[in-house]
Parts: sequence; C-alpha cells; structure tokens
Amino acid sequence: MSVIPGRKFTLLPMLGHTKGKRSAVTCALKCDNACSGEVCNTSSDEYFRDIASATMSRRAVLGFGAAGALAVAFGGALASAESAAADGGPGLAAAARNGFGRSKLTFTAIAPVDAAVDAFTVPAGFGWRPVIRWGDPLFNDAPDFDLNHQSAAAQARQFGYNNDYTDILEIPGSKGRRAVLFANHEYTNETIMFPPSLPAAEVRAVAAAAHGLTVVELERRNKNQPWNYVKGARLNRRYLNDTTYELTGPVAGSALVRTVADPAGRSIRGTLGNCSGGTTPWGTILSGEENFNGYFVSPGTSASDKRYGLTNQPTARQWEIDDPRFNTNNPGYENEANRFGWIVEVDPFDPASTPKKHSALGRFKHEGANVIVAESGQVVAYSGDDERFDYLYKFVSKNKYREGDRTHNMTLLAEGNLYVAKFAGSSPAFQVDGTGTVPSDGGFDGTGQWLPLVVDGKSAVAGMSVEEVLVYTRLAADKVGPTKMDRCEDVEASLHTRKVYVACTNNSDRGNFGKEGATEVNPRNNNRDGHIVEITETGDQTSTAFTWNLLMVCGDPSQGDVTYFSGFPVDQVSPISCPDNLAFDSVGNLWISTDGAPSGIGKADGLFKVTLGGAERGRVEQFLAVPRDGETCGPIIRDEERSVFVSVQHPGEDGSFDAQLSFFPDYVAAGTTPAPGQARAPRPSVVQVFRTDA
Ligand code: FEO
Ligand code: CA
Ligand code: CA
Repeated sequence: MSVIPGRKFTLLPMLGHTKGKRSAVTCALKCDNACSGEVCNTSSDEYFRDIASATMSRRAVLGFGAAGALAVAFGGALASAESAAADGGPGLAAAARNGFGRSKLTFTAIAPVDAAVDAFTVPAGFGWRPVIRWGDPLFNDAPDFDLNHQSAAAQARQFGYNNDYTDILEIPGSKGRRAVLFANHEYTNETIMFPPSLPAAEVRAVAAAAHGLTVVELERRNKNQPWNYVKGARLNRRYLNDTTYELTGPVAGSALVRTVADPAGRSIRGTLGNCSGGTTPWGTILSGEENFNGYFVSPGTSASDKRYGLTNQPTARQWEIDDPRFNTNNPGYENEANRFGWIVEVDPFDPASTPKKHSALGRFKHEGANVIVAESGQVVAYSGDDERFDYLYKFVSKNKYREGDRTHNMTLLAEGNLYVAKFAGSSPAFQVDGTGTVPSDGGFDGTGQWLPLVVDGKSAVAGMSVEEVLVYTRLAADKVGPTKMDRCEDVEASLHTRKVYVACTNNSDRGNFGKEGATEVNPRNNNRDGHIVEITETGDQTSTAFTWNLLMVCGDPSQGDVTYFSGFPVDQVSPISCPDNLAFDSVGNLWISTDGAPSGIGKADGLFKVTLGGAERGRVEQFLAVPRDGETCGPIIRDEERSVFVSVQHPGEDGSFDAQLSFFPDYVAAGTTPAPGQARAPRPSVVQVFRTDA
C-alpha cells in the first residue's frame, strides 16, 4: 500500500490502471478510484438489439425549426432574474432566431500544448486573468489567503477549492456592470494544499470548509473591462457542510432518508462531490452531487452499497473521525449516504434562501443537469450518471413553466416523470467493430426510447416503490434494460436546434475484462478518448422517442487514432480527448472542455469550439489549454463580449506541498516572497479570457 508523503491516502490500486500521464492522485481524491475497482453495474448486458424500429429516417426530424423552438423557450419579455439567467439572456434569443451565425469571438486555434507545461495558453490577441482564486476572501471579516497559516475559520469565509461548474448571471438593472458568479467546489487535494506541519485535525477541518458552493458578486466598469469580484458584497455566500438543504419531491420524509439528526427526513446538511451543473431558465443554479460515495464509510455489503461504490474502507479525508454521520455503520446514521447523490438547486440572487435537493430527478452520480422548456411548457432536465457502463436520464416536470413567475418555476423540479435512455443502432452489429470506424451507411446513428422509471407519481419499476426508485435509481434502471454508456458527463440541449448533446468522456473497460463491447452509440472498445452523442427528440422535448447520431469520435488523427468529426476532414481539426463539460455560444456553436487529455492524446486539457451547422460542421478548434495537471471546467462563452470563462480545476495535482508542480495562477518566482494574498502554490481559479488587441 502506498501513501502520499505525510498523508494516509491509499493510491496504489489506481497506479497500475492509469495510463499515460493521467494523475493517480486525481483518481483517488476526486472519484474514490472509481475506475480501478470492479465495474459496479453488474446488471445483465444490454445491447442495442431489442428496439424494434431502428429504421426511422433521421431527416424526418432534423429540420426542426430553431426559431419556433426559441419562441417557446424564451419568447417575450422575461422576469428580471430570469432574463439574467441562461447563456446570453435575450441576446441569445435574438441571435438564435437567425439560426447559426458568425461569432464575434474569432480566433486562430492554438496548437496542442504538452501536458507537462505549467502555463495557461490562449490564442494570439487574447489575454487572461483570474477572476477569483482558491482562498480569496469573500467577506469583510475574511483574512487574505495565507498558504502557510490556514485555518478552517478563514477558509469558511474564503473561496473554496477545485471550482468546477461555473456561471455568471448579470444582476438585473445593473446595466451589465454587476453580476453574480456561482462556483461549486468538488474536492480537495490535501497533499498540495497544506503545509506538512498543519495538524491532521485542522487539515480535515480546513478541507471540509474548502468544499461546498460559492456565490460572489462581480463588478466591472463597462462591458469591455474584465470582471472583478467584490469582497463583502450583499449576495456573497458560502455553502458549507452545515448549510441546510430542503429535500423536495417524493423522497422527502421517506424512511429511506431519515436519520437521528433529521427524523423527519426533510433537511440535509451539506452537499458533496459537486461536479458540473446547469443554469435554469428562471435564474437558479443546479449542481450535481457526483462522487459522494468517497465521503462515507459504509457496510459495503448491500446491493445498493455495491451499486453506488460505498465501501467499508476509511475515506481519503477521514471526516468520519470528526462527524459520526460519515460512517453509516453508526446507529442512527444508516441512511446518511442516501441523502447525497442528488441535484441541488440554489438561488444566487437570495443569500437567505434555503437551497434544495430534488429527489424527483433520481439519485446517482449526477455529473450535472441542464433544463430546457419543452414546447408543451413543461421543463425537461437531462442528466448523466458519470460511471463506466452507467446510464443517461431525463426528467419531465408535471407542471408548466410560467414566464415571469419565478416562485412557481422554482417548484418545477419537485414533481414529474423520470426516464432512462435506451439506444438502438441502425447498422449491422458486425460493422461496429470496436475501432471507431464508421459503418457503411456513413454514420453512427439510430433510434432510442426513454424508458419510464416514475410516471404520474407512481413507480414504473416492478417490485420497487417510488421512494425506492428515486433513492436507488441505479438499481431501478438496471431492471428496465437501458443502454450502458461510456461515462456520461455534461448533457445539454442547444437552444438553437433543441438537439441534445451528451459528452461520453471515456470508458477504458469497454470490451475489456469480459465487459460489454462496442455498440453503435458507444462504438469503440477500450474507449480512451470519448465521443459526443447528438440526440433529436421525436416531436416535443417531452417525447419518449428519439433519434440519435454521433457528432464526433474523439482522438488525435495525427497520431493515427481512428476518429470521426461528422465528415469534417480529420487533418483539419484540433485533436481532442475526454470531452467533459459543454456550453453553447450565442450563435449556436458547441464548446467542449476536456478532462483527461493527458491520458489520451498526451496533451494538456483545454477548451474547444465545435461548429455544428453549415459546411464546417464537425470542425474542432482549440481555444485554450490549462496548466499542468489541470482540468478545464465550467466554460462560459460570452462571444458577444468576446470573452470566455473557465474554471481551472486541480492544477499541479501530482505535486506535494514542498515540491509543487504548478504555480498557476500567481506564478510567484522561486526565491521571492509572495505579495499579500498571493501564494507560491497552485490555486484552482475561475479565469476570464478576453481580447487584448482591440
Ligand atoms: Fe466530476 Fe464526471 O466529472
Ligand atoms: Ca449507422
Ligand atoms: Ca466533470
């Protein structure tokens, strides 16, 4: 057994499993080594054989009108906070009505950056600066960050660690000069964060305070100036492990979520493993509780413990020493882990509001969730379960979106139907040979069904109650035979076309170790580089039928990888690997941030623009690259302001406190004393990229 020097983190199991330069530390700390153990989905393998009609013409649904879609989604004037939401607000609606357009954000793609380079790389004519960094003080009583003198009390009043999902919503009436920034804090890396002299109990306490969520106000002089965060602003808030979340939906009050501390089963302290998220049309933020299992010691013997990766091993952060709820063997806390794995909704415009966990969207390793208003007026939330061979889900609200009625709209995710996706391919199985080579009909494509799990408030799964379906959603889904996917990360609908994009980041086990092999929707065995699925709902967004095709099969064509970019010449694309987070610009281009490119194509992770419409459909252009060991998260594309934001997560992950591998973003020179508030250590940060030459 190996440990990180000075810490009791067990890492060895992952070391033989990771490839290339993929960080074993990231695997251990972020995902509790999810990829090193057995695949936890042991349900019988489902192939794409048993959906009947796989012959429906894609053309029949490809012509869905963008203007009509937008009129429903954003038509008319929105309530103030609602117009502040949604990428680009009213400007997006205007641009989208014109279909795919030409972006103001023009750039020449950067060359791929070597994974060992500790630099934030942007195209010629652009600059970058951190908007906020780990440790930056949020409140007037918060001290400046001091790397060598950290405390839990200080961290609780400062920006947390490893920001992932990020969005910026303008404050109504501020004429574009004021905004709120949301960021979640997925996990901590104690080895590089804390001086070895910091006592273990204080390490645990500071790390705990570095988790959770942050809302902070931003200001700028005008739209051509970069944003600055505002210390002490009215809307600033940290959500910590003692923040109370209201559980909504069918599981609220259920015996499955009651504990000695919450005998009513309705109020949950804290949120864990927050990864990606989404911004609702009504101006709230959704955040996905993903690898929550890594925070609990459990019996590890039940079917649900096994299916969710809950084990009886000490956790990496050992919070179970300080708080009995993190060990579900403790009497009274048997259900504590059932209170995590949900979609969280927060209102960034109300610092006194009670955040919610929405049980109606199911419990699994939610990457995030993204909402679109259907033609019917109901809202639809798409969410991926990021685990090898797990599933893609869709929630359809019972009630309808009411324009301008924010209070009503904030109830929509509490009640509705839940579905899981099953895909069928159009090509004969022998043509899907596991290499990623396109079948003879010219595309990876087919039809699909949304299989019901909960309908009209009732369980659609034999032998399981509604509460059981929603708490043990993975087990419920196993019973209805959905398609095992290659780790669904972000799932997001284009407001231009209503097509839904699914980032399947990778699956090193596909076709290996006796596991299910390639299918047309996951067409590569040993899927190192991932792919993007494009879904077209049949008719209304609430439909239970869809067609699909792959937008791309990722990799580096110049290294001989078999790739596919919707027919765009492979020698003209930026190489891309391990797609993770998705965003759209105001003219309908898809932007993809990556997590794991070092393990795939051997290059630094980055942010990429993908043209979706016209003759250049499938063209991939790299916009930026993040520093050594870092992952690109939470992209926000403000092309009309010629600006882009990303979260840089886990820079310098593989270092140690005394031998750091990244000095992003302060880059304090060796041998010099950092200025107040700076540090000679990597600091996860939200970065703004902007034009400097015009
Ligand atoms: Fe936290 Fe699925 O990445
Ligand atoms: Ca096909
Ligand atoms: Ca992610």
